[in-house]
Amino acid sequence: MKKKVTKAIFPVAGLGTRFLPATKSVPKEIMTLVDRPLIQYAIDEARAAGIKEFIFVTSRGKSALEDYFDHAPELEASLRKKGKTELLEALKATNMESGAIAYVRQNRALGLGHAVWCARRLLSNEPFAVILPDDVIAAEKPCLQQMVEAHAETGGNMVAAMEVPADKTSAYGVLDIKEDMGTVVSVKGMVEKPAAGQAPSNLAVIGRYILTPDIMSNLNKIKSGANGEVQLTDAIAQEIAASDNVYGYRFKGERYDCGSKAGFLQATVAFGLARDDLRAEFSAYLADMMSARNAAQ
Ligand code: G1P
Repeated sequence: MKKKVTKAIFPVAGLGTRFLPATKSVPKEIMTLVDRPLIQYAIDEARAAGIKEFIFVTSRGKSALEDYFDHAPELEASLRKKGKTELLEALKATNMESGAIAYVRQNRALGLGHAVWCARRLLSNEPFAVILPDDVIAAEKPCLQQMVEAHAETGGNMVAAMEVPADKTSAYGVLDIKEDMGTVVSVKGMVEKPAAGQAPSNLAVIGRYILTPDIMSNLNKIKSGANGEVQLTDAIAQEIAASDNVYGYRFKGERYDCGSKAGFLQATVAFGLARDDLRAEFSAYLADMMSARNAAQ
């Protein structure tokens, strides 16, 4: 029987320099999309997929993340006293069971592969998920849940994948497709951040992974790759030669690159418009603003 995926790694050690000065004192994963920090979206997606243990790979200056997931008894008591049940429920939804989250430190920024490797002692011989909180995915069925279901059929290593324009492939890990079965593709190669014109396809890796323990063994030995960093993509690519069990999964949903300012703004608009309590006011504002801009042109 295939083992269930119950552990997920959240690499959250990045400096978030693209959002300076905001990230001078606030971890980027705490930045707010509507009314929830980015990390909450990632945690909710993981929970929906059946994840029970959450491993955060952090770095200096990220203590606000640990505090965020702690219970807030005084705040809860005060909301209860004032009868603010909705807010109380929203707050309680962020509570994590004691011991469900583990934190490990990445002492040096040596790349995504290295960050994932830092969690090696917290995993046993079982498949595990990796979620990059910068990639926020709006979907009817959360992306990782879609993947866990597909992975139950394929086993092996699975990465979320999405077609991107040819002039954007150099920002991603890119798949070399062996067989395209529609939603699932089998993969015969993977390249991290290929130079312009060198990408094997325009099917890019997005920040959701289900990986075998072999990936950790590969990360033990791997040398730095693109940008001088230890790349997760390279450790997964090694499995193609070793086990031929790497798959791309074209998820259903809309992905926002919240690691970039434009992507974060787009996500703010989309998630704002998706909210029943904000839609009317917000869409009226956007429509007015656009017509005022068009009239001024
Ligand atoms: C990371 C991965 C890359 C992947 C991307 C998705 O890159 O290394 O393979 O395509 O996430 O967002 P980063 O965006 O951290 O440079």
